[in-house]
Amino acid sequence: MLKSDDFYTVTIENSQEKFTISKQYKIIRKVGAGSYGSVCSALNVNTNEGYCLVVAIKKCRHIFDKKLITKRCLREMKLLQHLNGHPRIIDLKAMDIVDPRTFNEVYLIQSCCDTTMADIIHSKLELEAVHYQWFMYQLLSGLKYIHSANVLHRDLKPANILVNENCDLRICDFGMARGFVNPSDHIETKYMTHYVVTRWYRAPEIMLSRNTYDKSSKYTFNVIHSTSFNSHDKLVDLWSVGCILAELLGRKVLFKGTDYVDQLHKIVGILGLPEDTSFWDNSSSVTEYIKNLRDESGLPPPTEPIDFRVVFPNAPIEAIDLLTNLLCLDPAKRMTADGGLDHQFVADVRDPAEEVECILPFDFESFEMIESEHVLRQCIIEEVMRSKGLDDNSLRYQSSSSINSQPSRRYTGSSLSTPSSAFVTEANLNAIHAAQQGNHVLQPTHDSDQLQFMVMETNQFVGEPEDMDEDDMKLMDSDDSGIHVGKRRTLVGPSNADYNALERHLSKDW
Ligand SMILES: Nc1ncnc2c1ncn2[C@@H]1O[C@H](COP(=O)(O)OP(=O)(O)OP(=O)(O)O)[C@@H](O)[C@H]1O
Ligand SMILES: [Mg+2]
Repeated sequence: MLKSDDFYTVTIENSQEKFTISKQYKIIRKVGAGSYGSVCSALNVNTNEGYCLVVAIKKCRHIFDKKLITKRCLREMKLLQHLNGHPRIIDLKAMDIVDPRTFNEVYLIQSCCDTTMADIIHSKLELEAVHYQWFMYQLLSGLKYIHSANVLHRDLKPANILVNENCDLRICDFGMARGFVNPSDHIETKYMTHYVVTRWYRAPEIMLSRNTYDKSSKYTFNVIHSTSFNSHDKLVDLWSVGCILAELLGRKVLFKGTDYVDQLHKIVGILGLPEDTSFWDNSSSVTEYIKNLRDESGLPPPTEPIDFRVVFPNAPIEAIDLLTNLLCLDPAKRMTADGGLDHQFVADVRDPAEEVECILPFDFESFEMIESEHVLRQCIIEEVMRSKGLDDNSLRYQSSSSINSQPSRRYTGSSLSTPSSAFVTEANLNAIHAAQQGNHVLQPTHDSDQLQFMVMETNQFVGEPEDMDEDDMKLMDSDDSGIHVGKRRTLVGPSNADYNALERHLSKDW
């Protein structure tokens, strides 16, 4: 553990948030923020390799304010270590806390990526078929590895997929992840903390068959209890992958529900309502509500999905086929990660050496049941202590040497000059150069419009990310950022439904 005078504090502009980190890191700028943490890029000036490395530092804040946040943090620390080393999953280089007696934040040190898929999708960058192929392949390969450790990610969305300028991608943000068990094994779920999964990427079966409901009155929706996760639930991640593929192809969110009820309207509008819905809980009030959806003329929803070839006229036909298989309402018929890797669409970029499985399943049970804050605190301290012994050779990910010897067919397309990557690369190069010269602090260069990032000294400010310009933000907020489907697929619910109660129910955690 470092001593307190090994740390220094930097304040992040606008948020007034402080990063208290080891002096071996010089903060460059803020690169992202989520609900539970902020992420800054930083220069590691104290590497064994003899040169400086750009890293990302994620600050998980206020972790002891609520048990839910404590567990989320511990879960992410443990999972990142367990999955460490797979090329499509963000790594974990180190972890830090400042004072074991009083800490309320944890710092995770990772490789720094240039941007996220959200920024790429909603930028004006031109994407080609080879980009969709390569992104999908990597996403499926990372997901195969995650699922093979009996882990569900549960929050796959473009903002949780990091992308580098060379188009390599890495899945991040494991705070929502859960384990699954075979249906025959029992797992006590009362200890599982629950969160709300990002709405637009949430599989319909989560809303339709995960709970039992109070059926005492028609269209009244009360959650009574939730059930455990089983191996079938990994298909919720594949639904999210389908949503991401559609967003890549159309540069718009596919199911852009304005609330949870509208989310269901959008899904059923686009995918239709098949006659046989036995894969949902047909006795639930929500399924009954769905069956009573009507279009503007009072007609029930079409039974067939929309023709994706019309919605995405420029997409390769194999991409449409993959999309159709991923966005399957019936989870049992939805394509798995393995199925996706076998799909024709990614055949050209496939490299079996990468498609390995995790050696050990991840053990959620050892800590998800802990209720005592004191014990959880000890667990986090232990993880940090243990991480100090981490080195690159201790990575769990191992590719099979026999498969490794096969020739690999990989991405040969061009790099993406991402909205932030040009700035980031330039800023990083300058920072590295300055550090190599022995100048740990770059002076602001007012004469340059381009270089907006500086390595900062104690208590100086670092700026907000520039990843999304104002137009991108407006696009995300406007109605125009959703797919237009026409009147026949724009649905409304029965007028006597208790919309507020339904919304409350659907937005419940799972
Ligand atoms: N290693 C990294 N390199 C570059 N940017 C990163 C990195 N990790 C995270 N980010 C950026 O920070 C953002 C937030 O990170 P992350 O999703 O891990 O935080 P979170 O608080 O758990 O998020 P959420 O609100 O989705 O739960 C990401 O969307 C991304 O923009
Ligand atoms: Mg996130």
